[in-house]
Amino acid sequence: MEKMLHLTPAHASSIPDGFLLPADHLRPATAAAAVSLPVIDMSRGRDEVRRTILDAGKEHGFFQVVNHGVPEQVLRDMEAVCHEFFQLPAADKAEFYSEDKSKPNRLFSGTNYETLGERYWRDCLRLVYPLPSGDTKDWPHKPQRLREVVGNYTALARGLAMEILRLLCEGMGLRPDYLEGDISGGRVALDINSYPPCPDPSRTLGLPPHCDRDLITILLPGAVPGLEVAYRGDWIRVQPVPNSFVVNFGLQLEVVTNGMLKSVEHRAATNSAAARISVATFIVPADDCVVGPAEEFVGEGNPPRYRTLRVGDFKRMHNVVNLGSKLNQITNLKANQKQEI
Ligand code: OGA
Ligand code: NI
Repeated sequence: MEKMLHLTPAHASSIPDGFLLPADHLRPATAAAAVSLPVIDMSRGRDEVRRTILDAGKEHGFFQVVNHGVPEQVLRDMEAVCHEFFQLPAADKAEFYSEDKSKPNRLFSGTNYETLGERYWRDCLRLVYPLPSGDTKDWPHKPQRLREVVGNYTALARGLAMEILRLLCEGMGLRPDYLEGDISGGRVALDINSYPPCPDPSRTLGLPPHCDRDLITILLPGAVPGLEVAYRGDWIRVQPVPNSFVVNFGLQLEVVTNGMLKSVEHRAATNSAAARISVATFIVPADDCVVGPAEEFVGEGNPPRYRTLRVGDFKRMHNVVNLGSKLNQITNLKANQKQEI
């Protein structure tokens, strides 16, 4: 029997019930929409790049980078092959479709927060790139060039993430290799997001407000806008800059830096005119890695603000918060996780 694919209706003329979200998730971007995320030219001098990345990171927890060293052709090939994957006939995608959250590589619809009974206007191909092997044999075999193109892209995006982590460490006065090893070496996870055109973008979202929970995220935003970043009680709409990446910090980086770098909430809006594809590359710590505030950031007058936890345990707590509560409580994990002093 053919597997049922519960994917987002791509040609719907109205929004099915499950997708309609409560108003507090939908508060539109207003005043700060005029503010834009800093765009950092990585081809400038190292001192300047280090400083601007750290300033932008402290102010927004988010920034864009251009002249980052990943060739334009790699970005175009990546966008094209991701698009081709979502265009495949249902029968070809069915083999990869799964609602089992424990499966590392799978196609699904919505988010990991599905237990709340809300649906979101996105489909996602989640792929795990194991380290150090980079073995992609469990990835889809269609389109034929997918494994090669996505594998190549992932290695380069990870290299860029590691370079940004080094610059941040230098800027913050940590050893440049402080974030190498297990904390960035668990694996790379890739969420290839497809947001079909939506008949009423004011009533649903592609992704709800959330913080990324790993170390750092490199997002290929695509040419169609959609990403919105929390800023001073409002949302900044991120305008895609050609050949740029959007970079943001995960919860583990907030913990290591004892809150100097924040993992900032963001969401994906939909639009009625065009399909959008984005690719989030997450640098994931090993489950056995123990993460807590770096000694360098703790001292007199500066107590640890987060508990030190094994990443695997942190994730279990994160999942429990997900299961048991309303969406906006997920991010309160940071508050829950803060050390009682
Ligand atoms: C994500 C994410 C934003 C986007 O995948 O975690 O925040 O613009 N994506 O697709
Ligand atoms: Ni995210």
